Parts: sequence; C-alpha cells; structure tokens
Amino acid sequence: MHTRLLHNDPQGIATAAAILRAGGLVAFGTETVYGLGADAGNNTAVAAIYAAKGRPGINPLISHFASADAAFAQVAATPLARRLAERFWPGPLTMVLPRAAHCGISPIATAGLPTAAVRVPAGDATQALLAACGFPVVAPSANPSGRVSPSDAQHVLAGLDGRIDAVLDCGPCRVGVESTIIGLGGDAPVLLRPGGITLEALEDACGMTLALPARGNDVRPSAPGQLSSHYAPGLPVRLEATAVEPDEALLAFGPPLPGSGLAWNLSATGDLHEAAARLFAGLRFLDMEGHRRGLVRIAVQHVPEHGLGRAIRDRLIRAASPRA
Ligand code: TXA
Ligand code: MG
Repeated sequence: MHTRLLHNDPQGIATAAAILRAGGLVAFGTETVYGLGADAGNNTAVAAIYAAKGRPGINPLISHFASADAAFAQVAATPLARRLAERFWPGPLTMVLPRAAHCGISPIATAGLPTAAVRVPAGDATQALLAACGFPVVAPSANPSGRVSPSDAQHVLAGLDGRIDAVLDCGPCRVGVESTIIGLGGDAPVLLRPGGITLEALEDACGMTLALPARGNDVRPSAPGQLSSHYAPGLPVRLEATAVEPDEALLAFGPPLPGSGLAWNLSATGDLHEAAARLFAGLRFLDMEGHRRGLVRIAVQHVPEHGLGRAIRDRLIRAASPRA
C-alpha cells in the first residue's frame, strides 16, 4: 500500500476525511501526539487499526469528536464529566464513561467493555478534520504497538509507511505527550493515565484528590493500555542517571551531565512544557544516532514528579521497563 502525505490545507483535509469516510486509515496530528484514525462506527476500519499497529485486541481506543455535544451523544455523561469538558475541551483530556444505549462506537474499538473513552482534541487542523468527517474518529497513537509515540508526520512514516492510507501533516505536536485519561465510570474518579492535563489541574477541577491505579504487566487493568513496557526505543533505557557511561547516550533535563557527546536536552532551563514537547523526538533521535555510533543504552537524568513531569516520568518508566 502506498501511504500518501497530505498537506494541512482545505484539499488535504477534504481528502483525509474522504479516505476515513470510505473506511481507510489516516494518521493526523493532534495537540498531544499523532493519532491513527478510522471511522469509529466502521468495524472493518477499526479492526484494520489493530492490524496496522500490531495492537492487542484487548486494548481499547479513544474516540475523537469535534465537540463535547458530539462526544456526550455516545456516552452517559455525568455532571462532573460536563464540568471537566467545559474546563478542558478542546484539549488533552480523555474521559472514560459508560457507553450510551445507542452508542455508535464499534465494540471492537472499546474491546467489548461497557465503557468508552472520548475526547475533543485541540488544534486547528485536527478540529477541521473532525468537522469535515462529521462522525467520531477512533485514534490510538500512530506508532507500531509498544514503540515510541509520534510527535510529527515523519515519525509516523518511520513506523507505519506502507501500512496506512495517508498521513495528514499537521506539523509538530504542541503538547508532546498523550492525553490524561480519567475514569468516570465508577463511584470515584480515577486517574488512568497521566498526560497533557496535569493531575494538579484535574484535582482542582474535580474538587477532590484522584485515586491512582496500580501499574504493571501483571495487573488485568481497567485500562488495558496500562501495560508496563511501552514507548520503548530500540536501545535500553536507564533512569535516574547521575553519571553517564562512555557507551551511553544522554537524555538530559536541566544542566546536562558530562558524557559520550551524544545528548538531547529535554529542557536546559528545566521547563516541563518544553520537555514534554521534546520527549518523543529526543528518544527517537538518541535511539537512531546511538545505534549509528555503537552506543548501547540511553541514560536519563531525573525529571521531577509534578505538573507535566508526571506524564514524562510515566512514559520514561515504561520505556525503561523489561520488554515482553
Ligand atoms: O493523546 C492521546 O490520547 C492520543 C491522541 C491520538 O488522541 N491517543 C492515544 O491513544 O494515546 P492510545 O491508544 O495510544 O492510548 C489510549 C489509552 C489506552 O491506554 C487504552 O487502554 C485507554 O486509552 N482506554 C481506551 N478506552 C478505554 C476504556 N474504555 N477504559 C479504560 N481505558 C481505556
Ligand atoms: Mg499509544
């Protein structure tokens, strides 16, 4: 299959929407990462996403909508869900809610669960694409399952060229880490994945502290995507480095440690927003260039556990965990 690269202009967006409407797969940029889109109501198209990514069928997908009204037509919204939508949409928040009785999202996309994950992403091109579609679009991150997420169109092609119909080039992603996922299906809200909306902002909006889920490959998770090994570059990753070995590349944060010479600084000034936006490009760069230079590992400097640091650390911990 030839993968087309579509430009972010009215013609590119119309073409992307037409391919999706016909049951094809189109990757597109959001404010968080690039997603691999399909018509959420089309079982065959949704199944093709799992095949293209090599994604386990138990790992459900997020449905993307042009508006909160469109999202809440598919799930049973609670007053808290509506409040969060007003505060954070369009933006990097995903809510897991019970499927509505007449929910049009393919059961393949929700992996047979009684709940569905919904979000209204930000970004002019993303919004224009969803408006042109007029139907919900499921989109997991546009990378082979388990690998580093894509934050620009070239990253998508590096992993999925020839396996999908098209990529809509929306430029680099502004936030750089995936959406925060909050589970609202139970008695109390649960943070299912840290992401682009900070826990602090979310707890403030909820007016309470949020329960945090256990992490690990052994847990049968309510979010099956919470598998430990994920976001993995080819080279092994070593966290909390305080020194760099001669055969290691360095992923730095703040003043860099002295090392082999191959380094990518997430943010020299220690800015967590800048660090999130540079995270996946940095892992990809160090992986590629490290391989070329015969290095054997990526050493990662400490990143603080607050604000966006929570999402960055979550991705790094999974990049470093033992591979299945
Ligand atoms: O920022 C994002 O969220 C990006 C962009 C493309 O929107 N998408 C993304 O999708 O990160 P993906 O497939 O890489 O991650 C989706 C996560 C998985 O961990 C999955 O288990 C969880 O959402 N999820 C989806 N539906 C769920 C449900 N019904 N219950 C619990 N977790 C769910
Ligand atoms: Mg992903």
